[in-house]
Amino acid sequence: MSQPSQLLSGAKGEYAPGPGSGLILAIESSCDETAAAVVERGRHTLSTIVASQISIHAPYGGVVPELASREHLRNIVPVVRAALTKAGISFSDLDAIAVTEGPGLAGALLVGVAYAKSLAFALGKPLIAVNHLEGHIHAVLLAQREAMGEPVPTVCGRSLALVVSGGHTHLYLTRHQGESFAYCNVGATLDDAAGEAFDKVAKLLGLGYPGGPWIDALAPHGDPSSVAFTFAQIKQKAHRPAPSAGPPRFLFSFSGIKTAVLRYVQIHGLYPSIERRREALAALPLAGPTAALPLCDARTLGLIASFQRAVVDDLKRKTFQAAEALGAEEILVSGGVAANRELRARFTEEAGRRGLPIAFPTVALSTDNAAMIAAAAWPRFLAGRFASLDLTADASLALGSEVRTRPPAPGKE
Ligand code: KG4
Ligand code: ZN
Repeated sequence: MSQPSQLLSGAKGEYAPGPGSGLILAIESSCDETAAAVVERGRHTLSTIVASQISIHAPYGGVVPELASREHLRNIVPVVRAALTKAGISFSDLDAIAVTEGPGLAGALLVGVAYAKSLAFALGKPLIAVNHLEGHIHAVLLAQREAMGEPVPTVCGRSLALVVSGGHTHLYLTRHQGESFAYCNVGATLDDAAGEAFDKVAKLLGLGYPGGPWIDALAPHGDPSSVAFTFAQIKQKAHRPAPSAGPPRFLFSFSGIKTAVLRYVQIHGLYPSIERRREALAALPLAGPTAALPLCDARTLGLIASFQRAVVDDLKRKTFQAAEALGAEEILVSGGVAANRELRARFTEEAGRRGLPIAFPTVALSTDNAAMIAAAAWPRFLAGRFASLDLTADASLALGSEVRTRPPAPGKE
């Protein structure tokens, strides 16, 4: 974890801002990362600082909302200062302040929103409210733009975006014309998010928090065909609404596979070995997945590999089904789970087989960060879509329009 005190020691950058440089300072505090970034014109990252709270929440095996809010309060000022220092600019060089408005934990979001509003008011700069999920989609576009350099080619007009993280599993049909983006939600999870399933399974197996990176690292050591998690256990459903209600909807469910892992643990009497592993890892506070490997037997490694394979296959199958049904010209995959190596490999392989372009953010941009919020703010900046100072956090903010699963009741359109 990066401590804010360490972040402040970042070297002063070389950047010399000019008038109308398009410099946006973005702030992200929707969950357990306090992040700030300075991005120029939505495509050139001058600084990105993330203060993670993993060590605070790890003993609880999940994010504790009250602790998250308290840590955001402690971190926000040093993190923002570190972002400016690293970018080599001062507050007066900024063209706008962007902030995550939602979705996320209400108390956590409020810290970022209140701070961004105060800053915008004090500096007399415009405020831009950004949806966290749109930020994840723009992480892919930012990575593409940075990798390709200037002049920036536009991505194709009709993409399918899978946003897969600890709090979300969504499919969006994303249309854009130049710098203007429109989103339609065409898929979501009925229960747990995919990242949540990674975290809960890792916790059940006595591994560290967050569980995704642990399972990612351990899975290659197990046999992914050793436990047959059928798609029926994942309650696969694809709802096709009435013809008037638009395109089909693709639904995920990850609570079934979580329960199936639990049953496997019970049936095979794995609790004593899980307890030994939990205790051994607790005695090594800084231990990572490498320390867990010798503590896992072949059966456990097979379980981990089979779980990951089943989740990745389910995400892959529905994403490509949706891409085909909706005529997407490109697939974008983002969110914390997009850091998963097997997911990247299997999605890339499938896209290659179908001749469909696919893009991911860098691994660092996959998990929560503020550079993606600054990138998503840029089209709003260009369009002059600024937020007022009565902006407040919206914990359940949705992105774009949504495809209905049922036709509207008569007279209710
Ligand atoms: O995007 P993110 O930082 O926060 C949310 O918006 O939720 O995603 C965090 C989630 C956690 O559930 C974490 O376990 C998962 O992303 N994650 C991974 C990997 N790295 C992070 N899941 C699978 N494999 C990974 N390598
Ligand atoms: Zn996120």
